[in-house]
Amino acid sequence: MNNRIKLHDKVFKPLIPMERIEQSIDEVAAKINADYEGTDTVPVLLCVLNGSILFTAELMKRLDFDVDLMSIKLSSYQGTSSTGAVHMDMGLTGDITGKEVIIVEDIVDTGRTIEALVKILYARKAAKVKVCTLLLKPEMYNKSIPLDYVAMDIPNEFIVGFGLDYDGLGRNYKDIYVLDTETQI
Ligand code: IMP
Ligand code: MG
Repeated sequence: MNNRIKLHDKVFKPLIPMERIEQSIDEVAAKINADYEGTDTVPVLLCVLNGSILFTAELMKRLDFDVDLMSIKLSSYQGTSSTGAVHMDMGLTGDITGKEVIIVEDIVDTGRTIEALVKILYARKAAKVKVCTLLLKPEMYNKSIPLDYVAMDIPNEFIVGFGLDYDGLGRNYKDIYVLDTETQI
C-alpha cells in the first residue's frame, strides 16, 4: 500500500493498512463479546450510514451473541470539514423502544454527530445507548458522551478509505489514507 490515491482534487497517502484495521476490530469485538457474554438481551447494532458500512460488517462477523441490525443515515461533512449541523438523511430502519442500542460509527471527530444521535435514540425510547467507533480524533472530541468502545485513535487529519469518503469518493479502499498536504496538484 505505498501508492498515493487521487480523489476529486486531492491526493491521499497511506496511513493505516488493512491488517492493522482488522487487528483493531478483532480487539474491539473481543471487548464487546466479553461485556455481553451470557447476555439474554438482543442489542440493536446500529450502523450509521454510509461511513460505517464496512466497519459494521467486519464487527458483526466477530460478535458471538445475537444482535438486531438496524441503520440510520446522518451527514455533517462537506468536503474535508464539518458543517457543524447534523442532518438526518434517512430515519431509523426499526423500532428501538425499550432496546439496548450499540451505535457503530466510522469516526468520532468533534462528537457533534454522536451527541445528536444519542439524543435521537433516547427520544425514540431506547433503554440504553452505547457507542462503538472504529476511529477517534481525541484532540477534537469535546463532548461528554462516553465512548464505550474505540478501536483506534488517530491524529486530527482528514482521512478516507474503509468506508470513509471525501465528497462521496474513497469508501471502497481497504486501507485508510490521509490527506497528503505536500503532494497536492
Ligand atoms: P463529528 O460530528 O465532528 O464527530 O464528525 C463525525 C462525522 O464526520 C463522521 O461520522 C464522518 O462521517 C465525518 N468525518 C469526520 N472526520 C472525518 C474524516 O477524517 N474523513 C471522513 N469523514 C470524516
Ligand atoms: Mg459517519
